[in-house]
Amino acid sequence: MNILGIESSCDETSVSIVQDGVKIIAHKIASQISFHRKFGGVVPEIASRRHIESIIPLMNEVFHEAQMDFSNIDGIAVTVGPGLIGSLLIGVSVAKTLAYVKKKALMPIHHIEGHIKAIFLDYPALDFPFIAFVVSGGHTSLFTVYSHTNYEFLGGTRDDAAGEAFDKVAKILHLGYPGGPVIDQLSESGNPAAVRFPRVYLEKDRFDFSFSGLKTAVFNHVRSQANLLGGYRICRISEVSSEIRDIAASFQEAVVDTLVFKGIKACLHKKVRRLILVGGVACNSRLRDKIEMEAQKNDVRVFYPPPLLCTDNGAMIAAAGYFQKVAGNFLKAEDIFSLNAFSNLPLGG
Ligand code: KG4
Ligand code: ZN
Repeated sequence: MNILGIESSCDETSVSIVQDGVKIIAHKIASQISFHRKFGGVVPEIASRRHIESIIPLMNEVFHEAQMDFSNIDGIAVTVGPGLIGSLLIGVSVAKTLAYVKKKALMPIHHIEGHIKAIFLDYPALDFPFIAFVVSGGHTSLFTVYSHTNYEFLGGTRDDAAGEAFDKVAKILHLGYPGGPVIDQLSESGNPAAVRFPRVYLEKDRFDFSFSGLKTAVFNHVRSQANLLGGYRICRISEVSSEIRDIAASFQEAVVDTLVFKGIKACLHKKVRRLILVGGVACNSRLRDKIEMEAQKNDVRVFYPPPLLCTDNGAMIAAAGYFQKVAGNFLKAEDIFSLNAFSNLPLGG
């Protein structure tokens, strides 16, 4: 069964064709990073305009790469939320129109469910249950996943998401956007013990997170050292001072410690020995190393998708669409026009 997946919830337009929920046939992403970089974050109005410009050409490229047309497609999956409403509406409108005109089943997909389903593109035979740790620019959430359609929400961030904290701290340090990859890279040559930033665990037996205090601690530290930034401009990586590298590494270490503690704790609490790490922050090298180490000590196995499938992409949406269609969760032609997009959308209660 071939599913066309469409993702447009934030600043990546992505279209993919996936077979049986596990095999990528064709996959394209149009990144908007260069359009948002000078603003230090995603500008919703620009994001919507870029989605409009990119989505149809991208879809044509995907069909060309797959050597397929709509006669080969068994259903269309689209992200309906959560995300930027103007961005979501582009993908949803395109998917609704195509599903109606081409008479295809339409599967509305929760963006976080898509991130979780990315794991099956790399580990098609992964067993249930597992703990899913979604760490991205918009989310820091833990779930127990019992089946392809049964999610139990364990906890999430009460303020900033982990990736958002990386992006905001990079802005404070004038390292550009997005912050995660550059902080990850700079931290390799920084001292993670240079500054003892706070680790906020909230209630230790709960699975909620808070990163805004850590961001403020970095801001206050930088402000207290007037010479640190040497003028306001974004430098090249090679020009970044050792003090800034130390701050980046110390900040990253504080985020990673909190994530590792709560992720492993969730596995032990639920007595589940499989942990999947997904979302953009799952690319972080220090997080991967430290969570692997703790997992080994606690007899937990960690799985993560390749970096390209950690960040937003249409393949994860197509994979989720396959499993929803198999479960009978799809809209038929007469129901398609009632579908909407939602900026806030819970998963797993
Ligand atoms: O999953 P994603 O593409 O978007 C959301 O659904 O939010 O994740 C993007 C986020 C950004 O905040 C980016 O800074 C972060 O993932 N990120 C990283 C790394 N690569 C991307 N954070 C830490 N370390 C990385 N290597
Ligand atoms: Zn995402």
